[in-house]
Amino acid sequence: MLCVAVIFVCLLCQSSVESTGVAYRCNDSSIEPGESYSTFAPSLDGVQGRYTAELCTFNQANRTELTMDLTYNENTSVCDPAFRRKFRRWVIKPGPQHSSNTVNVSGLATCSHVCYAMDFDLIFSSCYLLKSTLNGKHRSYSPHDDYFLIKNNITRQQYNKTSPYINFVNHDDGFTLDWILGIPAVDYNVTLRKINNDTGAYLDDGFEVTRNCSLLSHTELRCKLAPPYGCYQASFEHGGLWTSGVFHNKNFITYDHLCHQELKEPVVAPRGASMAQWWVCGAALLAAAALLAALLLRRRRLLRDYHKRVLDFWFNNRSSETDSEAAMTRDSRAVLLLYAREGELGQQAMAALRELVQHTTGGTVYDMFSPEVMALCGPAPNTWLRGLLQRDDVRVLLVQSPATAALYQDQLCEDEGGLRLREPLLGRRAMYRVPHYGDQLLKMALRQIAESADSHQDYNKYYLATYSGLETDILPSVVSYRRYVLPDAARALAHNLARAAPAAAPLAALGRALHAHLQHVQNNPDYLMDEIFIN
Ligand SMILES: *[C@@H]1O[C@H](CO)[C@@H](O)[C@H](O)[C@H]1NC(C)=O
Ligand SMILES: *[C@@H]1O[C@H](CO)[C@@H](O)[C@H](O)[C@H]1NC(C)=O
Ligand SMILES: *[C@@H]1O[C@H](CO)[C@@H](O)[C@H](O)[C@H]1NC(C)=O
Ligand SMILES: *[C@@H]1O[C@H](CO)[C@@H](O)[C@H](O)[C@H]1NC(C)=O
Ligand SMILES: *[C@@H]1O[C@H](CO)[C@@H](O)[C@H](O)[C@H]1NC(C)=O
Ligand SMILES: *[C@@H]1O[C@H](CO)[C@@H](O)[C@H](O)[C@H]1NC(C)=O
Ligand SMILES: *[C@@H]1O[C@H](CO)[C@@H](O)[C@H](O)[C@H]1NC(C)=O
Ligand SMILES: *[C@@H]1O[C@H](CO)[C@@H](O)[C@H](O)[C@H]1NC(C)=O
Ligand SMILES: *[C@@H]1O[C@H](CO)[C@@H](O)[C@H](O)[C@H]1NC(C)=O
Repeated sequence: MLCVAVIFVCLLCQSSVESTGVAYRCNDSSIEPGESYSTFAPSLDGVQGRYTAELCTFNQANRTELTMDLTYNENTSVCDPAFRRKFRRWVIKPGPQHSSNTVNVSGLATCSHVCYAMDFDLIFSSCYLLKSTLNGKHRSYSPHDDYFLIKNNITRQQYNKTSPYINFVNHDDGFTLDWILGIPAVDYNVTLRKINNDTGAYLDDGFEVTRNCSLLSHTELRCKLAPPYGCYQASFEHGGLWTSGVFHNKNFITYDHLCHQELKEPVVAPRGASMAQWWVCGAALLAAAALLAALLLRRRRLLRDYHKRVLDFWFNNRSSETDSEAAMTRDSRAVLLLYAREGELGQQAMAALRELVQHTTGGTVYDMFSPEVMALCGPAPNTWLRGLLQRDDVRVLLVQSPATAALYQDQLCEDEGGLRLREPLLGRRAMYRVPHYGDQLLKMALRQIAESADSHQDYNKYYLATYSGLETDILPSVVSYRRYVLPDAARALAHNLARAAPAAAPLAALGRALHAHLQHVQNNPDYLMDEIFIN
């Protein structure tokens, strides 16, 4: 189902790639010569924050160039005609430039009454002045001005805070580079420039690779590239109409030091500190596969027991379902708890964390693996999750572990082909031996978070934790400067979530559970293989 959705989105975006120009339609209503009117309304393609401006006018062959200029005024009274009549023109200062575009319309439309349309992106709630001018070769004509009061749920600050997220995956015969932009890409350039990895000096003038990239959605671009081995700086340049306005500092995105290199033989890291590195990427999968065969037989019996115990665990938790239902409907301090399954001790640690958060905040904790959540999310889990994520009163607590990295890092921007690592073993995908519905929910939630780049710096929304010695980061752009490293930061995490000090007993219980889990990981570097296999 996911695949179908993604393909559908791609079909849509392909038709809008070239939309920075001008569109026109003939309209034989009775506009008198010299008359014109304009409209400014949400675009029909449904892209958030995209509005179509249309100027309808009597067509005159000697007007060859159309300029549309968009400014905004935070003082929304300016959009009130009575206010404008009351104040003289010079009292109302022009607002800041939002967007501008000039196009050649000579010979475009031959009908006598024509409407020209342009799409403007990044439109937030404000009062806009649209100034449209049709100029001739040798003279300019007076512009047509219209004010529009736009009320949508987007603020200027939201766009200003938007920061892109870039995901680079090295394969042996190339690499993929995903740009999750947060801003629609309508007209863009991607270039690669070879750099010296040590000094950062440029080694060439750069070359354009835009053709090797394709849009996964309006705001997501995937580049599949295979330049010679070496380190590069990748740059992305936006070309939307807004690039001349107040958001111009968002035009350029660069990603430094991506190194296309030969994949080395994986080394199973010694226990301890460097284990994190070992898990993070493909190496984890390779090592997992190598160890897998040997482990398979020995583990089979243990696994059966393990899964029985997991089932018991869920079953025993079921009793609280009805009690919490009333609280689920509305409460002001809900927390969406996201983590990947990491075996029994990992589950116990997460149960203790859930208990602590619930106890400290007094609010509902939505746990993707709980029967309550499975019942709540119903037949349209994506929609349910989106609704939950957008609620102001819901905070997100993500515990990042080796399992989240191994399973979901590459899947955040999955397309129908998936992100395929092309080494014989790396071409496979890590999967749970016994899939749980919650695994899919977690993936959907991570994807939605990755996509909502405009909220990535919302420090009151996202709380990201990792395990000490196993630090991983699959959403580095989300509240980039704050990571709670468990177990040491457990108290701070609970305190920040609840804005109150946590009680000693559940905090101590969490400490014990985390300690047991981390001890187990330390003694069993292959612990994930109980849960995960390579497909
Ligand atoms: C001309 O445009 C106006 C405003 O968009 C619309 O109401 C009218 O139906 C159009 N007429 C034709 C013939 O398209
Ligand atoms: C432009 O063309 C219109 C008719 O299409 C004509 O009435 C007008 O005089 C022309 N203006 C100039 C400056 O040539
Ligand atoms: C808008 O501008 C007018 C005139 O300068 C001023 O009187 C009014 O207080 C302003 N309103 C806001 C909301 O800033
Ligand atoms: C505008 O387009 C027409 C037809 O495509 C072309 O003949 C003309 O030279 C263009 N004018 C400018 C200023 O680019
Ligand atoms: C704004 O509202 C639209 C539709 O009502 C919704 O799809 C969108 O997610 C909302 N955006 C934000 C940032 O709340
Ligand atoms: C480039 O430098 C980074 C750190 O600065 C290092 O991790 C990476 O391995 C280097 N890559 C190559 C190909 O030398
Ligand atoms: C881009 O794609 C073309 C055609 O598929 C290929 O020949 C070229 O090597 C690619 N460029 C890079 C840098 O990967
Ligand atoms: C793309 O690059 C070319 C030259 O490298 C430049 O002229 C053009 O303006 C760029 N376009 C966009 C949309 O960035
Ligand atoms: C965006 O944020 C920066 C820094 O906070 C600020 O200087 C700038 O004026 C803001 N721009 C807009 C258009 O809000």
